[in-house]
Amino acid sequence: MSLTPVAAASAKITPLTLLERKQTHQPITALTAYDYATARLADEAGIDLLLVGDSLAMVVMGLESTLPVTVDEMLHHTRAARRGVRRAMLVADMPYGSYHLSADEGVANAVRFVKDGGAEAVKVEGARTELVERLVAAEIPVVGHIGLTPQSVHRMGGYKVQGKTAVDYARLRKEARNLEKAGACVVVLEGMPRELAAEITAELAIPTIGIGAGVDCDGQILVFHDLVNLTFAPPARFVRHYADAAELFRSAITAYRDDVVERRYPAEDESYHLPKSTRAAVVAEPNAVAFDAPHLRRKA
Ligand code: KIV
Repeated sequence: MSLTPVAAASAKITPLTLLERKQTHQPITALTAYDYATARLADEAGIDLLLVGDSLAMVVMGLESTLPVTVDEMLHHTRAARRGVRRAMLVADMPYGSYHLSADEGVANAVRFVKDGGAEAVKVEGARTELVERLVAAEIPVVGHIGLTPQSVHRMGGYKVQGKTAVDYARLRKEARNLEKAGACVVVLEGMPRELAAEITAELAIPTIGIGAGVDCDGQILVFHDLVNLTFAPPARFVRHYADAAELFRSAITAYRDDVVERRYPAEDESYHLPKSTRAAVVAEPNAVAFDAPHLRRKA
């Protein structure tokens, strides 16, 4: 049975809504969106939280990792997504280097995402409690993100599930608690054993949103391009393809190409025509209108 899209008029999602969802055991839906069209479709479908994720570095820009994407590039996509979102909470991902040097710089960059990008919250990776406190003091809701944090790819030695040893398990539990204490409104749990994510979810008062962290989180998030198979890479274990956009786009582009080559496109009813009166005038006196295009004149 498919559920009908949530009416555009339903209430705006805020950090408070997400907290109430946790308290009333209603799952939170989240998805990445990087442009107007996908943000609008996801918003109209009733997704609660839309993240302009720095994953766009890989899935939109074709980069090897998320590390090179800049604040200006993230802002460009945040503004585009903003125009498509009415109901969902719009979260901007702070890119690598935009909050690692100092809390002052982190707050200044986060303010840009709110003022120039229209974001309603920012997401930061890692257990950066001092920064979270500063952002909250600057009236910016913060989404934390722990576990497999892609901006730490070099330190982690690859994209590896985290929290598998007893020491790491305890560390991640503590990080989650500290983020909550610092004022985060949500914590993303990425790439960790289901048991650990379940324990963190039970311990925290704020909602957890999982990606590769099992079904016990308060909500789930996926990268849009993973959801519709547009990533050109073998999917991670947790990825479920809900559509095959690669195949859909490929066959549409191939059909278009073939139609152009065979002169089947555009058809007669896809062409504009002269009004009858103009056609009659042109036929009666073909040279009546002088057409001078200097750039097309032959050189002597
Ligand atoms: O950048 C991103 O898409 C993310 C999600 C995977 C949580 O951080």
